[in-house]
Amino acid sequence: MSKAFYITTPIYYVNDKPHIGHAYTTIACDVLARFKRLDGFDVKFLTGTDEHGQKVAKAAADKGIAPQDLCDQNSQNFRDLAKTLGISNDDFIRTTEERHKKACQALWKRLEDNGAITLGKYAGWYAVRDEAFYDESELTKGPTGEKLAPTGAPVEWVEEESYFFPLSKWQQPLLDFYDANPDFIGPKSRFNEVYSFVKGGLNDLSISRTAFSWGVPVPGNPKHVMYVWIDALTNYITALGYPDESGEMGKFWPKDNPVAMHVVGKDIVRFHCVYWPAFLMAAKLPLPKRVYAHGWWTVEGQKMSKSLGNAIDPNMLVEKYGLDQLRYFMMREIPFGNDGDFSEAAIAGRINGELANAFGNLAQRFLSFIGKNLGGILPEPGALQPADDELLKACHGLLAQCRDAIDRQALNDVIERIWEVVRAANGYVDVQAPWALKKTDPARMNTVLYVLAECVRHLAILMQPFVPTSAAKMLDQLAVPEDARTFAHLDKAHAMKGGTALPTPTGVFPRYGDPKAGKGS
Ligand code: MSP
Repeated sequence: MSKAFYITTPIYYVNDKPHIGHAYTTIACDVLARFKRLDGFDVKFLTGTDEHGQKVAKAAADKGIAPQDLCDQNSQNFRDLAKTLGISNDDFIRTTEERHKKACQALWKRLEDNGAITLGKYAGWYAVRDEAFYDESELTKGPTGEKLAPTGAPVEWVEEESYFFPLSKWQQPLLDFYDANPDFIGPKSRFNEVYSFVKGGLNDLSISRTAFSWGVPVPGNPKHVMYVWIDALTNYITALGYPDESGEMGKFWPKDNPVAMHVVGKDIVRFHCVYWPAFLMAAKLPLPKRVYAHGWWTVEGQKMSKSLGNAIDPNMLVEKYGLDQLRYFMMREIPFGNDGDFSEAAIAGRINGELANAFGNLAQRFLSFIGKNLGGILPEPGALQPADDELLKACHGLLAQCRDAIDRQALNDVIERIWEVVRAANGYVDVQAPWALKKTDPARMNTVLYVLAECVRHLAILMQPFVPTSAAKMLDQLAVPEDARTFAHLDKAHAMKGGTALPTPTGVFPRYGDPKAGKGS
């Protein structure tokens, strides 16, 4: 029976256009989804757009258009971006869809039936930009003395009738849950941050608004719309068919949930690691297995912001550098979980130094040699020498190392493990010098060429989650059949076969900035 894996991106606010921050989260989830599919899991990968709330209503009002029209336009931008980025999502959810309204209202009723919702009056601070309530004690002062949220967002005083979720009651159950599930939140620093936040005490949470109407109406009291975060978080189960608990809910959100993980940015950890598990506990539904928070990108050393106008359009990056080049750079440049900086120098360095020189050349050199000197036929190997065994052993050891890193969401570590073998293979070429063996020892040359082909087969199969188009081209050049490219094919039984006719090789990773090369894949 195949193993299930459910992975979600945050759903993106449609008040603005997508930028590289959004592209980053989505690409990272795509890498995880592709890796698990290749590793034999039955994967469901969800992304989508967060369309309700005051922020979106305000953005529409500022533009003088109806909120639904703004949502339709901008949601499409995110959907198009997923396509441009080669994202393999299985579903795209929009919170203005009927299926979602149904799920939110069902969850609300279930919470109400379990005594987890009360009616009262909210008086406190709210930041529309963060769609978050803040306690007076959390606020700081801006340059002109105005009150600001800890994120720097302006806050406004809100006083209105509101439904409440008794979050304070869930403090101890949450702490007990974190104690029993130390892997619930990654990286560890975020776990510690959440733990001390909850330990410091929790305020009851206002979960409905009456000041505007752009949201899911509260069942039985449509004067209220649901707080946008309870609406947004519910998307993760809407897409599994909730409130129907028989179909995908049973498979991808099972009891004691060892299957589902959410990837989020570091700014929205509290919502996913405190509010969401508390809502689910109160509803008596299973909790996700893991929430992993990544860091934030700056651009050429600067924070991206609307006022600086420096938010980068990911479509432009794909156009300029190539899709696989962008995907590789983002996953490679920074340890997943840390902040990082996007710069032209950094991406150009990775493209030329690593993809073109180290990996691309490794394949290109021996494949063109086979094309030119051996009529494009992969030779049969002779007896293996220790250097051959050593390189092939490194290849066979890779999958276990990559799996281990993937399960820690250490995406750059996966690449680093693969790159250790790329470097070893380049070292092997230098020492074995197959081109020189042509005259002196053709039998040995054949073995070396064969070992290189088998090594590159491993590398290309494992690189597929990161650079799907280029890895596929590399596997085409090795004449590896399309149905023989999963991780199950990394075994010896599926090794390259001497005598295989290889197609005419072409470069897979062009250099950036080389006028002859054109852009990447
Ligand atoms: N709508 C909410 C999420 C609801 S999930 C139930 C939201 N949307 S968002 O569009 O503002 O942000 C989506 C994601 O983009 C967040 O995970 C956020 O961390 C990420 N990023 C926004 N700017 C970013 C960078 N500069 N760098 C990396 N990621 C960034 O929050």
